[in-house]
Amino acid sequence: EGGKLWGGRFVGDTDPIMERFNASIAYDQRMSDADLRGSKAYVKALEKAKLVTTDEMNQILHGLDQISEEWSKCVFVIKPGDEDIHTANERRLKELIGAPAGKLHTGRSRNDQVVTDMRLWLRDAISTLTDNALQLMSTMVERAAAEIDVLCPGYTHMQRAQPIRWSHWILSHAVALSRDVDRLQEIRKRVNVLPLGSGAIAGTPFDIDRELLRKELEFDGISLNSLDATGQRDFVAEFLFWASLCLTHLSKMAEDLMLYSTKEFSFISLSDAYSTGSSLMPQKKNADSLELIRSKAGRVFGRCAGFMMTLKGLPSTYNKDLQEDKEAMFDCYDTVHAVLQVTTGVMSTLKIKQSVMEAALSPDMLATDLAYYLVRKGMPFREAHGISGKAVFVAESKNIALNQLTVEDLSAVSSLFESDVSSVWDYRSSVEQYRAPGGTAKSSVAAQVEHLRNWIKKQ
Ligand code: ARG
Repeated sequence: EGGKLWGGRFVGDTDPIMERFNASIAYDQRMSDADLRGSKAYVKALEKAKLVTTDEMNQILHGLDQISEEWSKCVFVIKPGDEDIHTANERRLKELIGAPAGKLHTGRSRNDQVVTDMRLWLRDAISTLTDNALQLMSTMVERAAAEIDVLCPGYTHMQRAQPIRWSHWILSHAVALSRDVDRLQEIRKRVNVLPLGSGAIAGTPFDIDRELLRKELEFDGISLNSLDATGQRDFVAEFLFWASLCLTHLSKMAEDLMLYSTKEFSFISLSDAYSTGSSLMPQKKNADSLELIRSKAGRVFGRCAGFMMTLKGLPSTYNKDLQEDKEAMFDCYDTVHAVLQVTTGVMSTLKIKQSVMEAALSPDMLATDLAYYLVRKGMPFREAHGISGKAVFVAESKNIALNQLTVEDLSAVSSLFESDVSSVWDYRSSVEQYRAPGGTAKSSVAAQVEHLRNWIKKQ
């Protein structure tokens, strides 16, 4: 069949439905730049191996630059036979420079080509996502620094637990993001390995200088085994999992914020810029940004699980199933890229209602402190826990707050209670007890802010 890169042994046309089914050009054109970069490096290796003359190399380089310009000006015309970005670029090269174009693919296969393109593309994507994540982190850290004096209830099981600093809550999510950034840098190391020169499966029989290719394309290393290089997509799977975990973190944060933004909580109010209304109920202000942030975790995990299903049970080396890697990779990138930016917007514009947050603190949240009061007087904690629990019970039976119990009421549960027990009923001093690293005391939260500021600077 005429036209096709692989048409020599074929008779007759590909079924048109099959043609569309097989094509990836609709989405892999996003890698046009990486594909041309890879080809430019490759032709240099071909020239060094004397497989093309210097003149042919220059013609090819010039043609590739022209194609690059066409893509960047959005005037590249995709033709019906263009199966994928590799085919399309080569077809266009042939149109532009004629015969020498036919030498570009010497010793190369789309199998090592596609995976080279993907690694180049993903490397850039990782760098953008790292910037996005750091931007979000610093928004959160600066917010935490500015609002360090605000207290709010801390919840476990969604029940009131202990008073904490609002900044401590913010930083808990920033710390998780710092691990996401770490993980992304780890993945980058494994992404940044050159597969080109692996051919279809067996390697290259020509004097292709893979070290030259590595330098040209700024990879950190060269793949060790051609079967592995062309047939594995674990670097994609890792990225998809990374996206899933990162968005799971942000989904958790969004869920908290959603709750805090309800009228019932009213701890925060979301900026109008990140909210939407109802077409029917005029009063509505919905936290659509937060809901979408929450939902995207499901979307990317679906991509991750779906691609794992594709990989599971595949035989080794290249199989066309692997073409499915790209939509998953692009979609996860686009999704995380958007979520990180929207979350940055949400976090930099929301307003907190300090008085509401602090009014939501209740004396029962100091029951632990009441036990610690007894511990400080020498009682074993297990016993103190029981005594404080009794006090909670008495207050509940009397239908009064824990701090309304008189010293006489408390003395009835333990003789260790004295009038200085009144010092327990102070939220600020409660929070200030937690001075050990990682705690919610002001000094500890300030140390977290400093640590994260320095960490961000070092990235
Ligand atoms: N479009 C293909 C992909 O995305 C390129 C590799 C094709 N290789 C092949 N032997 N058919 O995987």
